Amino acid sequence: MSKTYLTGIQSTGMPHIGNYLGAIKPAIDFSNTADGKFLYFIADYHSLTSLRDPKAISEGIYEVAAVWLALGLDTSKAIFYKQSDVPEIFELTWILNCHIPKGDLNRAHSYKAAIAANEENGKKDLDHGVNVGLFGYPVLMAADILLFDTNIVPVGKDQVQHVEIARSIAQRINGQYGQLLTEPLESLSEGEYIAGLDGRKMSKSYGNSIPLFATEKRLKKLINKITTDSTGPDEPKSTEDSLIFDLYKLFANETQINSFAKDFKEGISWGHAKAGLFEVVNDHLAPFRQRYNELMENRNLIDDELEAGAKKARIIAKETISRLRKNIMGLKS
Ligand code: ADP
Ligand code: TRP
Repeated sequence: MSKTYLTGIQSTGMPHIGNYLGAIKPAIDFSNTADGKFLYFIADYHSLTSLRDPKAISEGIYEVAAVWLALGLDTSKAIFYKQSDVPEIFELTWILNCHIPKGDLNRAHSYKAAIAANEENGKKDLDHGVNVGLFGYPVLMAADILLFDTNIVPVGKDQVQHVEIARSIAQRINGQYGQLLTEPLESLSEGEYIAGLDGRKMSKSYGNSIPLFATEKRLKKLINKITTDSTGPDEPKSTEDSLIFDLYKLFANETQINSFAKDFKEGISWGHAKAGLFEVVNDHLAPFRQRYNELMENRNLIDDELEAGAKKARIIAKETISRLRKNIMGLKS
């Protein structure tokens, strides 16, 4: 039986190079080459747990959608939609809410992190600033997953607990009513984390990231900010533990890499090394960036893609919901 793969991307703005190489590119390549059913979606309602700005939410949706489409996501192979276009997700969220013990959510990472932050800041009310949406975040995510009979959920390490919660709710419901839901498994990408400008994991929250489609000028500026040591311009440099060299390898071909390694051995100034890095990154991204800018200028194309995707997604969604309404609520459909 062919498997169903599903993953969601929060609409919190332009993804960075780490997101691209660690998550988006592998997902697109996979849907283009592997057998199976693929659902990739924008988790825009998840962002409402933290965002309070309609313009920012809407802009975030377009940015993320345009990135995936510009990078060549083939929407005839993967169903691509936004969460807010599939109301069945929210109906399922309620059904799941009524089957998950509150205690399981008390132990969820995102909620525990909010509590810990309040504790650290000396707040009397440990639930300060925690809305019910944030508390129930894992249930909405479980609904995203379970609605489509998902077998495999490709995610980063920080999301594994959420997939476990989805699996546990599915098991609980299946135990009570018979086999109604598919029990999903997570799959982690194998590659190492891409490092950011300061050498730590590239992450939005560390402020060390390179936005995927920054303008050429900004890309150059960011690459120039990479931390380097004080070896002189003519001194040989090691390619080991060099952030510049590591990033270069991700974007260059073999001949370019060998020649860059030779430059390092013979001595290259950090300025020239950064210029070399800028060139390969920019050459790789420029055609995608152009497509991205075109899409952002023609948002109706993005709307059309997402609308068509939601139509396909809802065909599956309605079947699942009808199955649950009959078996859990005793309704006719
Ligand atoms: P961030 O840490 O910037 O908030 P997210 O947690 O939203 O990024 O990550 C979204 C996806 O991108 C996840 O699948 C995650 O594993 C992947 N990802 C994030 N940062 C990196 C990185 N530095 N290198 C490789 N993959 C990454
Ligand atoms: N919570 C995920 C994140 O922050 C995004 C997400 C929402 C998701 N629903 C999902 C991921 C369903 C996988 C499956 O990255």
